[in-house]
Parts: sequence; C-alpha cells; structure tokens
Amino acid sequence: MVIELRCARPEDVGRILRDEKEPADRSLIDHWSKKQHLEAIDNEATIYWVIVHDGAPVGHLIVQNLDDPNDSAFLRRIVVTLPRSGVGKAAVSKALDYLFRIKKLHRIWLNVKQGNTASAEFFSALGFVQEGTSREASKIGDSRYVSMDVFSMLVNEFEGDA
Ligand SMILES: CC(C)(COP(=O)(O)OP(=O)(O)OC[C@H]1O[C@@H](n2cnc3c(N)ncnc32)[C@H](O)[C@@H]1OP(=O)(O)O)[C@@H](O)C(=O)NCCC(=O)NCCS
Repeated sequence: MVIELRCARPEDVGRILRDEKEPADRSLIDHWSKKQHLEAIDNEATIYWVIVHDGAPVGHLIVQNLDDPNDSAFLRRIVVTLPRSGVGKAAVSKALDYLFRIKKLHRIWLNVKQGNTASAEFFSALGFVQEGTSREASKIGDSRYVSMDVFSMLVNEFEGDA
C-alpha cells in the first residue's frame, strides 16, 4: 500500500467534515466544528495531514503537542475512508517515521474510547502499548461519560524500515 501524507489546507475541511461522519458508530471519534479544524490546520504545534492514495484523499491524521517539552506528541485522530485496506497502517507508519526520525520525538501517545475495539486492535497491531485507562474522561452528549484507553509508542519501540 503506497500512500502520501500531505499537509491539510482550508479547502480540505468540507470533505473532512463529511469523513468524520463516516464511522458507523459516530461516538467513536470526536466531531469538530469547521472552526476547530481550521484552527488545527493553522496551529504550529499541530501536524494536520491528509492521507492520499492514488491521488485521492482517503482520510486524515492529526498530531498535536509537537512543542511538548517532554518530546511526547499526541496522535489526536486518524480517520480512514477505505477501512481494512492497509491505508491506516501505511499512514501511521509514515507518520511515525517522520515524528521519530525527523522531528526527534521520544513518545507518541493516543486515546482510544472504550468500545472502539477496531482502533484498539489497530494500534496494538502497529506495536502501540496500552498504558492504562483514563476513567470516564470523555463526555458524550449531555450526561454520558466514556473511559479512554491510553496507548503509546516510544522511539526505541519504533520499527521503521530505514
Ligand atoms: C481504525 C482505523 C484508522 C484503521 O484503519 P484501516 O485502514 O482500516 O486499518 P488497516 O487496514 O491498515 O489495518 C491494519 C491492522 O489493524 C488491525 N485492524 C484494523 N481494523 C480492524 C478491525 N476492525 N478489527 C480488528 N483489527 C483491525 C488488523 O490487525 C489490521 O491488519 P490485517 O488487515 O492484516 O488484519 C479505521 O478503521 C478508521 O478510520 N476508523 C474510524 C475512526 C477511528 O476510530 N479512528 C481511531 C480513533 S482516533
């Protein structure tokens, strides 16, 4: 699977807002406003990539806190619109290569909402380690709270191919 990661542009946001609605269970990921997406694209401590396959956008990947003093960045979100075709794995592998080798980060971490078993399987398959659980850390709607499983990868656990 050959994919490219290119920096998101404001004109990508309309499609990204539609992609956000793709997952069968909409509560699996947070849904942002157009303003939040535009702010993330503009944020210097954030990398906001569009995942491209065969010249067409097939998802997006957002990494925040690149300015963290502990060199620990937050993989905020990945959404793939061609599930189970290897796009997600190729995109995260490429992102990790950039983050560890070029940006010299030490740790990449992320949250998976409990119940999002596909994502937990996905990040485990890529070599992320579950560190623990942030109990009822995410609010859904007015009164429902969901726990988040915390996963991370350290630079010495990264198996790039260079
Ligand atoms: C989670 C997600 C990013 C995975 O991307 P993907 O392109 O479908 O994953 P890949 O095809 O690269 O899968 C790589 C490996 O992950 C694991 N995996 C992926 N999806 C899985 C699923 N639904 N169930 C079990 N394992 C899964 C498998 O080990 C798979 O390898 P295999 O296909 O050889 O068995 C994608 O399904 C998605 O966008 N989900 C909705 C949004 C979301 O929940 N994002 C994550 C939270 S931020």
